Amino acid sequence: MYVIAKKTLKQLREQGRYRSLTLPFGLDLSSNDYLGLADCSALREAAIYYFENGGVAGAGGSRLLRGHTQEHQELEAFAAKAFGATRTLFFSSGFQANYALMTTLPMRGDVVLFDEHVHASMRDGLVAARARSFKFPHNDVGALEDLLKRHRENAQNIWICAESVYSMDGDQAPIAELYELANLYDAMLIIDEAHATGVLGEGGRGLAYDKICKKHGYERLITLHTCGKAMAVAGAIICAGEEIIDFMVNTSRPFIFSTAPMPVQAVLVQKSLEIILSTEGEARREKLAKVCRYTQQLLGGHGGHIAPLILGESKRACEVATHLQNQGFDIRAIRPPTVPEGISRLRFSLSAKLDLQNIEAFASAYSKAIKQAV
Ligand SMILES: Cc1ncc(COP(=O)(O)O)c(C=O)c1O
Repeated sequence: MYVIAKKTLKQLREQGRYRSLTLPFGLDLSSNDYLGLADCSALREAAIYYFENGGVAGAGGSRLLRGHTQEHQELEAFAAKAFGATRTLFFSSGFQANYALMTTLPMRGDVVLFDEHVHASMRDGLVAARARSFKFPHNDVGALEDLLKRHRENAQNIWICAESVYSMDGDQAPIAELYELANLYDAMLIIDEAHATGVLGEGGRGLAYDKICKKHGYERLITLHTCGKAMAVAGAIICAGEEIIDFMVNTSRPFIFSTAPMPVQAVLVQKSLEIILSTEGEARREKLAKVCRYTQQLLGGHGGHIAPLILGESKRACEVATHLQNQGFDIRAIRPPTVPEGISRLRFSLSAKLDLQNIEAFASAYSKAIKQAV
């Protein structure tokens, strides 16, 4: 084992894929704190208030034991109202929630059809799942329909999985078309709203809220809202119908056999959601949209808050990143296995904390850095 690890690390270094932990520095161009809420005083004050009024640190057990607290219950009720869902379930992280969805809901005899760009947490869940799963080419609704036609007759249930905004390319899924297909072929649609929650849709509720929930509810839909990105805390909220959540509470191993999230995490997520839904949230989204438009003007791309700057080979992406980091821009190279071979990139992540001068300075440094890199 020790020998294998050594060899792997050597290979990773040679391929320009070696990773190490780096503390945040300089101008944040890489976090998912899209609305700039992580250091807002309202969240800090909510945490202080909670602890100064006798709040406990840890939940002390799993949700089905003594770990279920008032704070979890209140957050779940608040989130259900906010997202128009019958019920919601709060998890410690988005990874855990996606893993729980994939390992709990699809049964033996079911089929899962997933977009090839869905997050590692869904894919890892599918590796451990009981159902068979098949990927379809990214955003290819025609290919998905072919798979639906092929499997509808023999599959017990069919689950379609996609993200509303894809984490590495920042592009959007054709959500309305996916829902139409789910309806047509009697399938259930699972949408991971990790990078849309807080940023897109009415009141920052995500894309499925506008395009599906408002009209059709959650009968054929499950959404997942991670709380560590625009919400700037940690955790994830699954929104679904009553039976799905009840089933997860009763049978989901990642939910049952894990200590509940810290109660203060629920307090902060609720506070963050309140801000996101308020006029302050709206103002932050407007600021972010302005930053996105200016970035598109200077650097091209689709104008979203995740702006990938594709550089090709890992080594080139690392070299450009280093040039920029040396000038105080905290931007990181994204390499395989996170993205496929040959499309390593800088994941330029925009936020409401940035101003137009920041974007100008970055665009100028970036154009110099790519000229200098081999
Ligand atoms: C699309 C997507 N889903 C789920 C997750 C996992 O969420 P968390 O970071 O809360 O574990 C991520 C995190 O990077 C993500 O990008």
